[in-house]
Amino acid sequence: MGHVDAVALKAIAFDFDIREICCTFGERISQRYTMNIIEAMRERRSVRSYNGEAVAAPIAKELLEFAGKVYNPFGGQFTVRIKRFDLKNGFKPSTYGMIRGAEDFFMVGAADDEASSLSTGFCFEQVVLKAWQLGLGTCWIAATFKGTDFETAEPWPAGERLKIISPVGTTAKKGLIEKISRVVARSDHRKPFSELFFEGGSDKSLSEDSRFGEALAMLRLAPSSTNSQPWRALVDGDKVHFYYVPKSALSILDCGIGLCHFYETERFYDRSGDFYKEENASATNHNWKYLISYAAG
Ligand SMILES: Cc1cc2nc3c(=O)[nH]c(=O)nc-3n(C[C@H](O)[C@H](O)[C@H](O)COP(=O)(O)O)c2cc1C
Repeated sequence: MGHVDAVALKAIAFDFDIREICCTFGERISQRYTMNIIEAMRERRSVRSYNGEAVAAPIAKELLEFAGKVYNPFGGQFTVRIKRFDLKNGFKPSTYGMIRGAEDFFMVGAADDEASSLSTGFCFEQVVLKAWQLGLGTCWIAATFKGTDFETAEPWPAGERLKIISPVGTTAKKGLIEKISRVVARSDHRKPFSELFFEGGSDKSLSEDSRFGEALAMLRLAPSSTNSQPWRALVDGDKVHFYYVPKSALSILDCGIGLCHFYETERFYDRSGDFYKEENASATNHNWKYLISYAAG
């Protein structure tokens, strides 16, 4: 498998006045904008407490334009929208108390097939990292939201349904619920590199100095649902075979997020390569399911 069909990604534009630019905000953006993608992957975290302010119009516009042109090697079908809720005077959508002070939310609709799950993870994580570079927090949310509170009159394209929401906004001091949820999900802990990535057979851990060491180290930092980290990889010469240990219905989407980190690192260091499906890929570990491979160019 080489490259695939174009993604069905649409972004619904904000109806804002572009002159709403605030100087201090602008300065902060230009400082953050110098943050490279490696720094963004290292520093990003799920943000659940926001300062109650809406995202400034030019930044929202930039994010939406970016969402419309992210790189997608996996095909599939998904749609990104963004919606503002007027917290002071209007309706507050339910996130079951998990999110505080956010006015703006991304909503991601997707189809149920594997390619759509993979591309939703891969593509929306690019938006998440871009938001972080622009000084904004986000939080992938697949479970703790009330779907009917986020639906709009506009239906999702055929075959898609609302799968993910994410607040987007300026970070505030962590609230108690945020602190507790990080402890419960063990959000600050990632599995050791040596337990995730292997070479030759699944019993020999990969050296972090290998050709793919840095990209896999960045994959390891990716967010995943309940911090489940389902990704595994086997390096075979100039190829990496990616597998996952099924943990939930979100495991493939989670792997798409991890692959985004892997690919962004390759691109940052000007290394070329392509994703493809290996015809006879077999997992040496019976808990693993084959997902996709990557061949260095
Ligand atoms: C696909 C996906 C779904 C998630 N769903 C939720 C959710 O429903 N509620 C929530 O509070 N956090 C959710 N999270 C956030 C994870 O708990 C978080 O990414 C993980 O604990 C790692 O923490 P970090 O993102 O700060 O690195 C989700 C993350 C992903 C990637």
